Amino acid sequence: MKFFLDTADLGDINWAAQAGLIDGITTNPSLLAKVAGNRDPRDVLQEICAIVDGPVSAEVVALEADAMVAEGEELARLADNIVVKIPMLGDGLIATRRLVEQDHRVNVTLCFNSMQCLLAAKAGATYVSPFIGRLDDISHEGMEVIRETRIIFDNYGFETEILTASIRHPRHVVEAALVGSDVATFPTAVLKRLLTH
Ligand code: G3P
Repeated sequence: MKFFLDTADLGDINWAAQAGLIDGITTNPSLLAKVAGNRDPRDVLQEICAIVDGPVSAEVVALEADAMVAEGEELARLADNIVVKIPMLGDGLIATRRLVEQDHRVNVTLCFNSMQCLLAAKAGATYVSPFIGRLDDISHEGMEVIRETRIIFDNYGFETEILTASIRHPRHVVEAALVGSDVATFPTAVLKRLLTH
């Protein structure tokens, strides 16, 4: 299972990359804003992409298909390893299809059930990101989405990678690996807790 770090903190990314602990990065606008301060968040993204030899997810904020595609194209121009992160919405699936047709890689995020994951895969997503911690928060079993999605993708030969997100603790990482998630993304605090488990 690949490990992505869910952060825009350059110090943490440098440390984890030098130790060979991570295969990629996921960011979102609030993680980038925290680090960027008065700088352009796109400059931070470019710095991250230069440090990490692997995919770096950068999320659009637009909610309408044409605007998502335009923003995704702009993000993809920042570096070769950018993966455009698109929210799981009807317009998001249209944008996903269009970006994939232009050979961009797309991570469909904010998925909360296996059918949303299947829809994203059918639209051509490179990654789907089910948010397991947020499901646990509302008394659902988040990991069940990963189990179901693994079976569905294997049944039909989808190559879309399952990127387990909203991971809160080491046990989530263990369970994601046991049920066959392709990738787990988690904050630095969880990576440090894995090291000292
Ligand atoms: O990977 C998803 C993450 O950015 C959100 O996680 O813990 O706020 O649900 P969380």
